[in-house]
Amino acid sequence: MKRALLRLAVFLVVLAVPLYWLYLASAMALGPDPGKWLLDHLGQGALVLLLLTLSMTPLNRLTGWPLWMALRRQLGLWAFAYACLHVAAFILFILGGDLSQLLKELPNRPYVLVGALAFSGLIPLALTSNRWSMRTLGKRWKRLHRLVYLVVVLALLHMLWVVRSDLQQWALYAGIGGCLLLMRTPLISRWFAQVAASRRGRPRKVANNP
Ligand code: HEM
Repeated sequence: MKRALLRLAVFLVVLAVPLYWLYLASAMALGPDPGKWLLDHLGQGALVLLLLTLSMTPLNRLTGWPLWMALRRQLGLWAFAYACLHVAAFILFILGGDLSQLLKELPNRPYVLVGALAFSGLIPLALTSNRWSMRTLGKRWKRLHRLVYLVVVLALLHMLWVVRSDLQQWALYAGIGGCLLLMRTPLISRWFAQVAASRRGRPRKVANNP
């Protein structure tokens, strides 16, 4: 019950954000270039949701609270949904809905290739984030889902290339992403699990989840 309510709350909040942005766009409240505003904010939303997804396992280990894991898949799928909207905004507002413009735009926006790589990494993750795939792929599922680490690195690189001189926000995301990735290295993961277990006052076996 608690789990279903929490999932519903997250669903409603994460759905409400782009709907609110659409409302602001319809009210002409997004500044002189609403298309670019939406594109940037959807990209940031995708990255934030990706980082939140990655933080569920460490939070679960640290607190022992299983509800974090119940949110992991939902947040990951939302990250993919925001990324899809981000790509749709790119096609609509930058390419003017004309995909043949992509080749013309690429020399001006080479970072799009890095974004596209990150996006193509998200596709198999989203497609296999169901119980059936988990069961069918067995150990390979975990290996496949380690792809999320590469996606985070590519997404950060993509953002860095876009923002270039305005590094404050990027540095925050990169700092959080870097810590989350470091926690997955075997040495730090083991140390982190020991600290978490001692905080909760009981020894615990560590699973190396993505
Ligand atoms: C085919 C895939 C993608 C394309 C074509 C694409 C395209 C773009 C474009 C055109 C911009 C704006 C550049 C500008 O400000 O002039 C942008 C920014 C951004 N994108 Fe992507 N992107 C893609 C995938 C992704 C993915 C998968 C993520 C994250 C998971 C992402 C996160 C971001 C972020 C954080 C920004 C910076 C927003 C800001 O300026 O604050 N993008 N992208």
